[in-house]
Amino acid sequence: TEMKSRLIEEIQEWKIKRNAVLLAHNYELPEIQDIADVLGDSLALARAAVTTDAEVIVFCGVHFMAETAAILNPEKTVLLPDLEAGCSLADSITASQLREWKAQHPGAVVVAYVNTTADVKAESDYCCTSSNAVDIVRSIQEDQEILFLPDMFLGSFVKKETGRENMHIWMGECHVHAGIAPHQVETVITQYPEAELLVHPECGCSTSSMYLMSEGVLPEEKTHILSTGNMLKHSKTSSATEFIVATEVGIIHQMEKQNPDKRFIPANREAICPFMKMITLEKVLAALKENKHVITVPPETAKKAKLAIDRMISIG
Ligand code: 13P
Ligand code: SF4
Repeated sequence: TEMKSRLIEEIQEWKIKRNAVLLAHNYELPEIQDIADVLGDSLALARAAVTTDAEVIVFCGVHFMAETAAILNPEKTVLLPDLEAGCSLADSITASQLREWKAQHPGAVVVAYVNTTADVKAESDYCCTSSNAVDIVRSIQEDQEILFLPDMFLGSFVKKETGRENMHIWMGECHVHAGIAPHQVETVITQYPEAELLVHPECGCSTSSMYLMSEGVLPEEKTHILSTGNMLKHSKTSSATEFIVATEVGIIHQMEKQNPDKRFIPANREAICPFMKMITLEKVLAALKENKHVITVPPETAKKAKLAIDRMISIG
């Protein structure tokens, strides 16, 4: 529509005026994905935040992502267009809960998924994302006890992949991914028997998919447990023409754009992250014009959290 194109034009003008870059996650609204300078998964966006030479980073994603960008770039201005854009998974553990857990396991190494607050990262040794969690756990000495947080589905996926016994897992979950249940995936598979299955490890169905693969119910060569960025790469290079997508449905916009001849079927149509959808064109424009909402992390917290984030950026 005309109003939409005017908004986009204004955003482009303000981006130049402010020397700003727009980073967007794969779950953002289609119109946000379409104007992003960098679109990606959590790891790709954290890396982009480090390499950009823009002065202002507008983070079209959720709060913990903007915080991570701010920790990596204390000299840049990081803006989150809506402060309410949080994350139910990041909310599932606080720094004081983590301190208590650590006290119960003295000497354990803490691996925190990037979906955590800066305070929790500051109490952690390593951060990881869904695309390098397995590599990070593998990089830790085998006899070393590990506390993995906060996602239980990603945690059990990593535990199964690495065969690691001395790894404790926090019982947190993302309400969107937890809602993608094994029975839904099984139903869609019977409807589309030719399709490949792409599963995000945060899903309620990720470990059951691994089990079904080991039992021969799911063909191994057609089942892939991947981060959102790797799902996009895979759907481009695979020779399959139908894909069942078990993650937040926003990613399907990008899959269809990149592969107009392929078909993408959501495992659960209702898997919509309300936080990611809070970022609209209007709010992006207001963020640039009014310099809001500036995300900062206290220097002491940032210094500690940065050690864990730097390890995440360099591995995998
Ligand atoms: P990735 O894009 O890194 O796979 O993360 C998924 C997610 O839920 C981000 O909030
Ligand atoms: Fe958090 Fe889940 Fe939304 Fe990702 S999809 S931002 S993990 S609530």
